[in-house]
Amino acid sequence: MTPTERRGRATEAFFGRRKGKPLRELQTERMSHVLPALKIDLSATPPADLKTLFNVPVERLRLEIGFGGGEHIVHRATESPATGFIGVEPFVNSMAKLLARVEETGLKNIRVYDDDATQLLDWLPDGSIDQIDLLYPDPWPKKRHFKRRFVSQVNLERFHRVLKPGGSFCFASDIDTYVNWTLLHCRDHGGFAWTAKYASDWITPYAGWPGTRYEAKAKREGRTSAYLTFRRV
Ligand SMILES: C[S@@+](CC[C@H](N)C(=O)[O-])C[C@H]1O[C@@H](n2cnc3c(N)ncnc32)[C@H](O)[C@@H]1O
Repeated sequence: MTPTERRGRATEAFFGRRKGKPLRELQTERMSHVLPALKIDLSATPPADLKTLFNVPVERLRLEIGFGGGEHIVHRATESPATGFIGVEPFVNSMAKLLARVEETGLKNIRVYDDDATQLLDWLPDGSIDQIDLLYPDPWPKKRHFKRRFVSQVNLERFHRVLKPGGSFCFASDIDTYVNWTLLHCRDHGGFAWTAKYASDWITPYAGWPGTRYEAKAKREGRTSAYLTFRRV
């Protein structure tokens, strides 16, 4: 598939809500002024060096799919100013929240995309991304909905194409069946090596982990989480 063919694709992996409460005036204002400045324009050809998407010099690129409240991406972007972060979130209220945080903090190393992540993935050049974070993706716990899960062979192939060799795919979830699902899908794909060395690794949060809003909810409801890291081979 050529980049042009890939770009024409409609939403295919988003099944959630796009809107919640009506936005407040300031949020609406940010959506019309700040979002266009930060949003990646998929109608343009990707730059030869993707790092030039950022107005500050960056050495690495990291993609977070479904950033929700944005607490993780803001934390990581603050602690790693030499990394360029691309955050994807189709839920309008979450995007408005992130834009407010970016304005407050003045972070320059965040760009965003406000629709289905598969569209952005298909736009990204081969081997351009150092790390993909998929943190608490929508769990779709009922068997008849498993096919809606973001982790699928098609999306793992997308990850494999855009990740640099040796790049990382990090997956966190509190849903046992989704954790098993991801381990099996990555094994069957063959292009991802699970990096766990010790039995405790998969229940040990990532270094510097700030938690996420969804994780806090899972904890309150008595569910524990797994934190998987795969190396792109
Ligand atoms: C369960 S929430 C978790 C949010 C956040 N990562 C956290 O841990 O708090 C899953 C998020 O993924 C987003 N999402 C679902 N499908 C998506 C897709 N195809 N592309 C990008 N984001 C998606 C949803 O809008 C939602 O905000």
